[in-house]
Amino acid sequence: MERVAAFLKEAGAYYLATADGDQPRVRPFGTAHIFEGKLYIQTGKVKDVSKQIHANPKVEICAFKDGDWLRVAGTLVEDDRVEARQSMLDAYPSLQNMYSADDGNTEVFYLKDATATFSSFTKAPEVVTF
Ligand SMILES: Cc1cc2nc3c(=O)[nH]c(=O)nc-3n(C[C@H](O)[C@H](O)[C@H](O)COP(=O)(O)O)c2cc1C
Repeated sequence: MERVAAFLKEAGAYYLATADGDQPRVRPFGTAHIFEGKLYIQTGKVKDVSKQIHANPKVEICAFKDGDWLRVAGTLVEDDRVEARQSMLDAYPSLQNMYSADDGNTEVFYLKDATATFSSFTKAPEVVTF
């Protein structure tokens, strides 16, 4: 899981896919933070992406870096504790312009039942679960 978090951070951005009914939706994301041994992402409840995650928490992430790519399939679980939100905001000070831990909008999710696959054109895929 640490390797997954490091890859996502080093890639700078990753792409988060959700299901909107039968329509796939994908957008750039950047937050990736380990808290209490779990990999968290952050969003805002006002966003469509949040509504899609609540309706169907199965997601997939893709990132590309230095010729390697990573796909992570899993289920997002909301952690509604203020300390989880604050830990994320502490890790991403730039988010504090837009979000605070008790603004009623900020939310954080951790990945559960995740399968991460590291791939490249030159090596066999490596699969990690967490
Ligand atoms: C590099 C980059 C990183 C981003 N990271 C996040 C993020 O971690 N969380 C988030 O909610 N939005 C993030 N955004 C903004 C979302 O991509 C944007 O709000 C998007 O429209 C949300 O998807 P939706 O329109 O389906 O709700 C990021 C945008 C960029 C360009």
